[in-house]
Amino acid sequence: MPWWFFRRRGGSALSTDVTGRTSGTGWRLQGRRRYLRAQPYLLPKDLGEINRLDFQHYVLRAALRGNYLAPIGQPRRILDVGCGTGRWAIELAQQFPQAEVIGVDVEQAKSTNRMPSNYRFVRGDILQGLPFEENAFDFVHLRLLILAIPLAAWPGAVQELARVTAPGGWVELLETSISPGDWGTCGPAMQQLLDWMGQLAALRGLDTEGVVVRSLERYLAEAGLINIQRRPLEVPVGTWGGRLGSLMALDFKEGAKAVSGLIAARFGRSEQEVLDIIEQVNHEWNALQTKGYFMIVYGQKPLAG
Ligand SMILES: C[S@@+](CC[C@H](N)C(=O)[O-])C[C@H]1O[C@@H](n2cnc3c(N)ncnc32)[C@H](O)[C@@H]1O
Repeated sequence: MPWWFFRRRGGSALSTDVTGRTSGTGWRLQGRRRYLRAQPYLLPKDLGEINRLDFQHYVLRAALRGNYLAPIGQPRRILDVGCGTGRWAIELAQQFPQAEVIGVDVEQAKSTNRMPSNYRFVRGDILQGLPFEENAFDFVHLRLLILAIPLAAWPGAVQELARVTAPGGWVELLETSISPGDWGTCGPAMQQLLDWMGQLAALRGLDTEGVVVRSLERYLAEAGLINIQRRPLEVPVGTWGGRLGSLMALDFKEGAKAVSGLIAARFGRSEQEVLDIIEQVNHEWNALQTKGYFMIVYGQKPLAG
C-alpha cells in the first residue's frame, strides 16, 4: 500500500454519510473530522477513517495470514458486529458464496452497490442488543471495538454475540489495548499520546488498562462458550519491522491523527503540537523497536441437549 493512500482518497468531512446528509444531530464536527454524538465511540466516522479502516484490514490480514482463526467449516450465516467499512464481511462473502453474510454497525460506511449479492448491511447497536433472533449465525465476528464498548458493557456484549450464535457455531474476537504497559518500552512522546488517549477513553468508560484483551477468554466462558482458544499477536511498528512494521506504523499514526483534534480541544493544545508529538512517536517506534499487541480469542457454542 503506497504512503499516499490516505491522502489520495481523503475527502471532505461534510459528505461522508452514504445517505448524503451534510449535517445532523447524530454527529458533530471537531475540526475537519466527524464524530458520532450519541455513542461512546472515540474514533471519527468520515472518509479519512473509512480509508484507514480498509487499509488496517489489509495490514491485519497480512499479520494474521488470514481473516479468522476459528475452525468454522462451511458456515451458512456469518455476522460481523461493528463491521466498519464491511471489508472483512465482504471478503467472507466472497470466500463463502453459499453463505449469507451480514455486517452490523451503528452507521453504514459505504453504499452496498457493487458488493457481493450474499452480503448485506444491517444497522444495529451492540450496546442495545442485536436485531437478530437467537441461534441465527454459524460464525459471529467482532474486531477492534475497544474504543466503542465501555469496559462494564463487555460481558453483556459478548453474551449478546453468543445469543445470536447457533449451537455448534463459533464466536471470534480480536482486540488490542491502549495501556502503555502493552506497548513494551514507551518513549516520552508515546507515553504522552497514550496518556491523552487514555484520558479521553476514560471519560467514556472505555478500557484504558488493557483489561479487555486479558478478559476475552473469560467473557466467552461466562457466555457459555466452550473449546476456547487464544492467540496473542505481536506486530512490529515502524520501519525497523520491514514492510509489515511500516504499514502498521502508518495505520497507528493515522489512528492517532484521527483523535488529534479531540486531544487538542480537551487538553488545551494546538492541533499542530499534537501532530508534532505523533511525529516524535513515529521516531520512537524505530528507536525502541516497538511492537503492537493484539489478542484473538474464539469459542464454540455447545450443541443443544
Ligand atoms: C475501529 S472500527 C472497526 C471496524 C471493523 N470491525 C474492522 O476491524 O475494520 C469500530 C467500528 O465499530 C462501530 N461501532 C461503534 N460503536 C458501535 C456499537 N455500539 N454497535 C455497533 N457498532 C459500533 C463503529 O461505527 C466502527 O465502524
